[in-house]
Amino acid sequence: MAAAPSTVFATKPLERLLHEAEGVGEKTTLKRTLSAANLVALGIGAIIGAGIFTLTGHAANAYAGPAIVYSFLFSAFGCALAGFCYSEFATMIPIAGSAYTYAYATMGELLAWIIGWDLVLEYALGAATVAIGWSGTLVSILHSLGINLPPALIASPWHPAKLPSGEVIHGIINLPALLIVVLISLLLIVGIEESAKVNSIVVAIKVAVVVIFIAVGWSFIDPSNHTPFIPANQGGDKFGWPGIFRGASAIFFAYIGFDAVSTAAQEAKNPKRDMPIGIIGSLLVCTLLFIGFAWVLTGVVNYTELNVSSPVALAVDRMKIGWLGFLMKLAVLAGLTSVMLVMLLGQSRVFFSMSRDGLLMPMFSQLHPRFRTPYLSNIVLMIFVGIFASFFPIDVVGEMTNIGTLFAFVLVSIGIIIMRRTQPDLPRPFRTPLVPFLPIASVLVNFWLMTNLGLENWLRLLGWLGIGLAIYLTYGRYHSRLAK
Ligand code: ALA
Repeated sequence: MAAAPSTVFATKPLERLLHEAEGVGEKTTLKRTLSAANLVALGIGAIIGAGIFTLTGHAANAYAGPAIVYSFLFSAFGCALAGFCYSEFATMIPIAGSAYTYAYATMGELLAWIIGWDLVLEYALGAATVAIGWSGTLVSILHSLGINLPPALIASPWHPAKLPSGEVIHGIINLPALLIVVLISLLLIVGIEESAKVNSIVVAIKVAVVVIFIAVGWSFIDPSNHTPFIPANQGGDKFGWPGIFRGASAIFFAYIGFDAVSTAAQEAKNPKRDMPIGIIGSLLVCTLLFIGFAWVLTGVVNYTELNVSSPVALAVDRMKIGWLGFLMKLAVLAGLTSVMLVMLLGQSRVFFSMSRDGLLMPMFSQLHPRFRTPYLSNIVLMIFVGIFASFFPIDVVGEMTNIGTLFAFVLVSIGIIIMRRTQPDLPRPFRTPLVPFLPIASVLVNFWLMTNLGLENWLRLLGWLGIGLAIYLTYGRYHSRLAK
């Protein structure tokens, strides 16, 4: 075998990255049109989704009880630390590709590959998770219209799902989840672009839904559901403080998406000032909304009953305001759709960058002759995400998304420390405060959230990274553009 080019530890020169930012192809259309408010809206658009509407109930039921509220606070703390680090990179290297690009500039090709491969867990499996939540919401809407889909076609074979009627079923395939993945992939192929305006409308609806839920639900809170607020530990990570921390890891999914703001750095009017506002601002708004939401959800429905695929639908049903419940479910459906759109779009952008760097096959950056979208990439992703959405239980894909994203946060935080040493004089429009302490705290908190995800998820992560390493060693290493 020929000697491998020695780019494994080579970093991509910053000048080259910045040059690519001005580059050709799909990027020529990017215009600097996004204001700080648009960026905050973009973040909220990507954040509010299946996590808050679906996983909150599961995590309260399995780990924390009403104290899931504390889990939300702790998780937000870890995200804020990582958010500062993303902000520094996003203002310093304001181009698409996000964590993959930052890693290529700081930690070398191998680690960049690993993080790019890892981002598949965040974006592709994240989209699969949201698709399963979408399916649960659709089933609930159809049920309220008197239409009941065959149970075998609406659930994964490995997860018992509780229907709105209370019946518990095992499925064969989650067909609605597959359907929405296919539809969104087709939309992305024909090049439907979410303009900031459309996104803002969906965000306004989503925020309104959460605010209405909190406002209306408040009067339906039964204080006995909040007592005890921290249920006694039942061994391991079931309830008590261990359960709160385990819950923080489980609902971490709800916050995923603020980092998607960083991929829009190239479209921000004033990235130097506005990227940190978009990243941290969207996190802050969502943290407040999530805490209110979790408080009301666990107050209206006892946490012991929340192990259903669509807990918000259950809570709204309890409020017995028919028209409101129906409107809210429709709005949730629209909100989840936009999260999937952003995630599948983000995934194809990361693959696009990796393919253009030679680390993935050229087909992933091949554009459709008419639509000018990376359609082959979208088709491969549609099949991959579709399989996970059809056959896997929501908690498995959700937790794989969590561990993958947390791993990306850890590497980005380490990247800040490395970049301060290797490029101390580079202009940094936004500086992460208290370096190296804040990035170290970010590494520790996010790594610690990872450790709470249990051995199974670690094995899944290691297995996934192992597959990625094999692909790098047999393909990427020999096709890297940097090597040429
Ligand atoms: N935070 C996003 C959601 O919960 C991924 O759907």
